[in-house]
Amino acid sequence: MKQQIIEILENALKEMGAETEKEEIEKHIEIPPSFEMGDYAFPCFFLAGKLRENPSQIALKIREKIGNPPEQFEDIQTSGAYINFFLDRKKLAQNLILKILKEKENFGKANIGKGKRIVVEFSSPNIAKPFGIGHLRSTIIGNSISKICEFEGFSVIRINYLGDWGTQFGKLLLGFKKFGSKKSLEKNPIKHLLEIYVKANKKIYEKQSREWFKKLEEGDKEALELWKKFRELSLKDFEKIYKLLNIKFDVYSGESMYNEEMKKVLKELDEKGLLKKSDGALVVNLEEYNLGVALIQKSDGTTLYATRDLASAIERHKKYKFSRMIYEVGQEQKLHFRQVFKILELMGHGWAKECVHVDHGLYLDETGKKFATRKGKTIFMEDILNETISLAKKEIQKRFPKISKKELEERSHKVAIAAIFYGDLKNNRSNNMVFDIKRFISFEGDTGPYILYSYARASSILRKAKSLKKGKAETGELDPKEIELVKKLSEFPSVVLKSYNALNPSLIANYSYQLAQIFNEFYHSCPVIGSKKELFRLSLVQAFRQVLKNSLGLLGIETMEEM
Ligand code: ARG
Repeated sequence: MKQQIIEILENALKEMGAETEKEEIEKHIEIPPSFEMGDYAFPCFFLAGKLRENPSQIALKIREKIGNPPEQFEDIQTSGAYINFFLDRKKLAQNLILKILKEKENFGKANIGKGKRIVVEFSSPNIAKPFGIGHLRSTIIGNSISKICEFEGFSVIRINYLGDWGTQFGKLLLGFKKFGSKKSLEKNPIKHLLEIYVKANKKIYEKQSREWFKKLEEGDKEALELWKKFRELSLKDFEKIYKLLNIKFDVYSGESMYNEEMKKVLKELDEKGLLKKSDGALVVNLEEYNLGVALIQKSDGTTLYATRDLASAIERHKKYKFSRMIYEVGQEQKLHFRQVFKILELMGHGWAKECVHVDHGLYLDETGKKFATRKGKTIFMEDILNETISLAKKEIQKRFPKISKKELEERSHKVAIAAIFYGDLKNNRSNNMVFDIKRFISFEGDTGPYILYSYARASSILRKAKSLKKGKAETGELDPKEIELVKKLSEFPSVVLKSYNALNPSLIANYSYQLAQIFNEFYHSCPVIGSKKELFRLSLVQAFRQVLKNSLGLLGIETMEEM
């Protein structure tokens, strides 16, 4: 509805010679404080400068240009400097509910991506290390962005690009040879690898470690075999976490897979005159673009993170012919990606323009410090997840003391995911945020469980209404809370589109919360079962449930009928 109003205003303003961008118009549209003033209002003050006229005069002129109100409107009036739009509320409610119930899980799709492919790289943890909390953020946001792209009609390739190559593996190999044990490795791989890494990460071992990494890059059999074992065991561990989070990838790739391609990249860079020698190392100088100097090959001949990213991007483009490639990676790598994209462009790859670094801020602890270690200890992802699940269990048992064990397991798992995912996604991704499980898991306030709870409440109403009769439900005179809910439901498609355009799931997260809140207000002021408008209200509840489900689905959150 709002979109339509924007278009009407856009056309009118154009005719008046005051062309204004859609975004600009949208910024000014308000919801009037009282119902008698219409459903949407457009104040004309900001146009006064541009049109050199007083705002009330402008409002009258715009009104004149609009002419007869289109079908969906009951009336369009001016009041001082405002233009007030009155929707034909009954018609809007009827058409919208019908549409939602017909389109179901497809309601809200824009289909802008038809026939196009998007590669989304996310999560990308480093093997032989605990799955870090920073990677959790990439996992949650990347998962949601993949879903949003898919919803808008793109075909999506989800790639997990493991950090499985680099000088740190020299340290690990040396460490394992010196301090490792096969038995401990099998028993608790990540913990053991972490221990030997700490022991080997010392100045005195630097030279030897470097030699081990060189061996690995040259394909030494022993080095490769050990490395393979580290990778395999780490991946098994990570997969446990992905399973807990309900997250899937189409491809597990990794930095290790581009050794051949990297040689080609080096050659190509050289041929194009981009490589410079610097103290025995090879670099690409990007100073004229204010991007510093990118190190491509170290003086000992080993390659680097950036080189691998060049090779992997080129390979992916060849393989997937993507129309866009998204890297969901922390903010601290901003310069790295700008360098990589710039070098690709200088190499003549026009598609470099379609590569985007979607960044995110840090998780902080309750005291505002970086959430990485607690009391000096490494925090294991699995522990965090299990702690959240057990908190969820407590909350559920408070409400349903007699719940079966199986039901409890299932529900607490879903609640825990909703708590963590929503707790993250409600924030603008570029900002730092406090990772506070106790707050996330609360059933009240701006939380995932609160939203799930309102879904379950709607389900319970529908269960109680035994006869969800078909047939035309009479809307009667619409109650303010009913119309508020209808209007919010109607916003869903444009919220998803905006969220796609900004690659920002927080818009959908915030929408979900507002929708749940409006539903709860509706539910408190409008009895459903037994009311004269039972049939209409039931269809409204059903439509609400569908839209909330679609919305949460885009965040990676599954709903449940009872909670
Ligand atoms: N493994 C890297 C890290 O943990 C992130 C990889 C990001 N992706 C990329 N294509 N560079 O820092």
